[in-house]
Amino acid sequence: MSSVVYLNGEYLPRSEAKLSVDERGFFFGDGVYEVTRAVDGHLFESGRHMRRLARGLKELRLTPSVSLEEIEAISLELLRRNDITSGEGTVYLQITRGAAPRTHHFPPAGTPCTVFLSAGRFTLPTDKRATGVAVVTYPDIRWSRCDIKTVNLLGAVMAKQYATDHGAFESLFVKESAVTEGSHTNVFGVIDGELRTYPSSNLILPGITRDVVLELAREIGVPVNETPFHIHHIPDLQESFLTGTTTDVMPIASIDGKAVGDGKPGKVTMALYDALAARLYVAVGAGRR
Ligand code: PDD
Repeated sequence: MSSVVYLNGEYLPRSEAKLSVDERGFFFGDGVYEVTRAVDGHLFESGRHMRRLARGLKELRLTPSVSLEEIEAISLELLRRNDITSGEGTVYLQITRGAAPRTHHFPPAGTPCTVFLSAGRFTLPTDKRATGVAVVTYPDIRWSRCDIKTVNLLGAVMAKQYATDHGAFESLFVKESAVTEGSHTNVFGVIDGELRTYPSSNLILPGITRDVVLELAREIGVPVNETPFHIHHIPDLQESFLTGTTTDVMPIASIDGKAVGDGKPGKVTMALYDALAARLYVAVGAGRR
């Protein structure tokens, strides 16, 4: 059965949703996106996602005709229409500068933004979490506005493919020897009992899961130090993990083939995963998975 998507004001079967070849998302990757988790038909941390989206729209001077409240309502409606009102799902949103003859500068005023949303079921990566995942390092070849969640994702695509080619779950970007983030995740390390992660800046995406995990760490008394760990710190890592909407807290078992700590999911990592899971499921009144 074809899923139902939302495109520019209409709910349509996915197979009937069509875009112009003059779409600026296609020509330039000129747009932003969000991926939001849904549990039992409720959106997780929707307010934070909407604030990040609003900031991205402002930075890129995109002015869609739908409001943030309407986007939330469309997201919930898509979950309903696709029968994802129980269990795990995700909602994908993309807003681009619309369709217009190809010019690098903005199209004429009044060109409507393209607004697309879809919803899908999501399978938890439970097996991977039990063992932890292998990751590899990759040079951070991206631009210097990684804080904007743009659909221009070529750096992430190349990095993730490198991981796939090497049988790894994720690539960690490295910039001037510092580990910045993953291709679609943020990354944390534990050194001397302290939680380390790249500080929020123009060089990483301010992940919603990253934010929640930092809050949870403070709540459960894990010392937090928002400074990066570097390549030369890898042998000193007691634990390391990834965070993201489709990853939750994912233990890292090895980096470039070398075990992190004892190569098993660490105590701090799993305490943070449990705290996140409690938020995810308790927030929506669902049972623990
Ligand atoms: N990616 N860093 C990057 C570069 C990302 O693309 C993502 C999310 C994250 C984690 O952010 P959050 O916790 O808000 O999901 C960090 C999404 C899930 C994706 O591209 O599919």
